Amino acid sequence: MEYRGAGVRDIEAIAAIHAEGWRTNYRGAYSDAFLDEEVFDDRLAVWTARLTRPHPLHETVVAESGGRIVGFVHTVLDRDPVWGTLLDNLHVLPDAQRRGVGTGLMARSAATALARGSHQRLYLMVLRQNTAAQAFYTARGGECVGSEVAEPAGGGRIVGLRYAWSDPSVLLLHGAARDA
Ligand SMILES: CC(C)(COP(=O)(O)OP(=O)(O)OC[C@H]1O[C@@H](n2cnc3c(N)ncnc32)[C@H](O)[C@@H]1OP(=O)(O)O)[C@@H](O)C(=O)NCCC(=O)NCCS
Repeated sequence: MEYRGAGVRDIEAIAAIHAEGWRTNYRGAYSDAFLDEEVFDDRLAVWTARLTRPHPLHETVVAESGGRIVGFVHTVLDRDPVWGTLLDNLHVLPDAQRRGVGTGLMARSAATALARGSHQRLYLMVLRQNTAAQAFYTARGGECVGSEVAEPAGGGRIVGLRYAWSDPSVLLLHGAARDA
């Protein structure tokens, strides 16, 4: 597995993985019309903007195996004055899950937070219904520290749980253990 910074050539692959992740895991939270008809175009627009005009405080890393992108993570440095760096998106293709790719991507996000963040803290928001991802974050040392209500793309109301790492270096250890 190779981990590398994303570029414009990765826009479509990342948008496709992101859209598929939302279709599979966000059903019931986002509207069916949005998930069935609009989500790919929505994600394509987001990733085209993000990767053609990269923000200096954003970093996207892809996991690639045999020339195929199987997952990605997007990190926003210093997003919150209290919680620090935001791990904004983390998705791994279903046939590549539970092989350490998510752990490897989280380790890259943590390394970015530690190297470039002013707070050296990492957090993310996960849908309340996404219990599989919550199990993953708990296994990786994250702590659920609260919740927020938001209005998702396509309308409606969702509850997100905040998971935080006061010391993201634990994620480097998990990543190294899976790489070993
Ligand atoms: C969550 C996600 C990123 C994890 O990536 P992954 O590559 O499968 O994770 P890893 O293989 O590195 O680690 C798996 C570990 O996490 C934990 N874990 C993962 N899924 C789990 C589940 N459903 N139940 C319990 N533990 C789980 C286990 O400790 C597991 O280790 P094991 O396989 O040795 O038992 C991936 O499942 C995914 O992309 N899901 C869909 C999109 C999504 O929900 N993203 C998060 C949005 S906030």
